[in-house]
Amino acid sequence: MPLEMAINSSGFWTLREPTLREQMHPLGNPFQEGLCLYVRPCAVEERLCFPDTAPLVVWDVGLGMGANAAALLSKVRECFAPGVRKLALHSFENAPEGFRCAVDHPDRFPYLTDAIFSAVSKSWVYDDEKLSWRVHVGDFFEQLANAPAPEVIFYDPFSRGVNPLFWSEESFRRLFEICSSKATVLATYANARTVRQAMANGGWQVAVGPGFGNRNQTTLAVNENERRRSSQYSWCAPKT
Ligand SMILES: C[S@@+](CC[C@H](N)C(=O)[O-])C[C@H]1O[C@@H](n2cnc3c(N)ncnc32)[C@H](O)[C@@H]1O
Repeated sequence: MPLEMAINSSGFWTLREPTLREQMHPLGNPFQEGLCLYVRPCAVEERLCFPDTAPLVVWDVGLGMGANAAALLSKVRECFAPGVRKLALHSFENAPEGFRCAVDHPDRFPYLTDAIFSAVSKSWVYDDEKLSWRVHVGDFFEQLANAPAPEVIFYDPFSRGVNPLFWSEESFRRLFEICSSKATVLATYANARTVRQAMANGGWQVAVGPGFGNRNQTTLAVNENERRRSSQYSWCAPKT
């Protein structure tokens, strides 16, 4: 079933798959959502400036129409200077035609006008001195072994009703183990008690993320290395 363009309840263009009950970014400006819920809470600018010669690896889980990736790349452009780390962006998507469709409509998706988006939508790879970007096309859980362990995870699959595996304890534990040698934060729009409990059972420490649209809070999951690195988190005890 092809993806359809649609206007969300705030008047911004988005994409939806007609058989699903959900659309991407149902409320608000998708690019602003990327900045507010993913880029800023994960301290991407601060991480790019760490005195580290290794690239900053970011996983963009569910590339969708590329709004979170575009928000991230806008920060990389602002930060770029000698000594700043290179960004290694790894996006995952099993329906990549959505991104192609959005890139082909810059009037509706104005944050995708940079030539980088067009290049990536053709070949799924890009590389220059400040950015490498690879889109892993296929199922996330089959593709994740092809990417290096991340310091930042933008976790933006559909909700549990559509994408149940993504929200399971087993999946959060798998991600936790992959990140064991890194100081990692995972940001997601979800704030359900069951999601936070699955994260905690999977090994993560769970913190409150910023609100956006009609959500008064979202969720950040942090491993022990990241907890020691930063005191910025506001912890939430999972309710039982
Ligand atoms: C909420 S949308 C992501 C929106 C996106 N982050 C953006 O900024 O535009 C969720 C995305 O996850 C993708 N997805 C769903 N199941 C997947 C799977 N098993 N593997 C990879 N991608 C998947 C969907 O096709 C959809 O594009």
